Amino acid sequence: MLRNKVCVVTGAGRGIGYEIARVFAQNGAMIALVDVRFPENFHFPYGEFRTYELDVANFDQAQDVFKNITDDFKKIDVLVNNAGITKDNLLMRMKKEEWDSVININLNGVFNVTRAALRSLLKSEAGSIINIASVVGLMGNAGQANYSASKAGVIGMTRTLAKEVSSRNLRVNAVAPGFIKTDMTDKLNEKQKEAIISQVPMSRLGNPEEVANICLFLASPMSSYVTGQVIAVDGGMTMY
Ligand SMILES: NC(=O)c1ccc[n+]([C@@H]2O[C@H](COP(=O)([O-])OP(=O)(O)OC[C@H]3O[C@@H](n4cnc5c(N)ncnc54)[C@H](O)[C@@H]3O)[C@@H](O)[C@H]2O)c1
Repeated sequence: MLRNKVCVVTGAGRGIGYEIARVFAQNGAMIALVDVRFPENFHFPYGEFRTYELDVANFDQAQDVFKNITDDFKKIDVLVNNAGITKDNLLMRMKKEEWDSVININLNGVFNVTRAALRSLLKSEAGSIINIASVVGLMGNAGQANYSASKAGVIGMTRTLAKEVSSRNLRVNAVAPGFIKTDMTDKLNEKQKEAIISQVPMSRLGNPEEVANICLFLASPMSSYVTGQVIAVDGGMTMY
């Protein structure tokens, strides 16, 4: 489905980003895997790819790394802004550093990377930007004011950029995962996990591959008339 497409995935060292890169590669894409740090034993046995170290919060570094990516691959067709972190605390106790670092990576990071990639993406015949948001950006969640603000910001940016560039056949969509089994949710204790599962009509956490498959749909011509949308992958958690 993505034969000869060059796809860039941020936060591809593990978790959802790794799965997106794997599913794209297994569907014929050439992949630029981007992460602030790749695990020591990093292994990606799936087709043509290169790895690039980038802290998405660093605007200047993003420009440099994307110059290298376009020099190496000659074009970019698909960008997945997936890199993200959590630093949870009730707002009453939230430190400025906890607020700033989450906004800098999750929201400013999407701006920095998209800005660096946009010229190349606009040259693609059928480009696609996919921003990984979260259901928390739609619903809010106690203890996650920084994270939910960053993800709501990403949703606003997605819709605005879709209005700016869709006439040039560059589509921009967001995916809003619910609770997915990764290192990010492994931090939660059993009681917190049970509380979450009780809110999910499908009564389970999701798998990274279930998010990656929706990204594949949004990256491919299967979704050629879909732009400016937010697709929840959440076992039915947000229905409205
Ligand atoms: N796991 C969930 O339940 C869930 C739910 C909703 C949304 N999401 C979103 O999905 C995305 C991926 O989450 P995950 O669960 O795979 O997390 P994860 O912690 O397993 O992986 C995140 C990846 O991003 C990288 N990263 C972190 N900071 C970075 C930076 N400054 N620059 C570049 N890369 C950086 C990490 O090194 C890591 O490889 C995030 O945007 C997250 O907010 C996750």
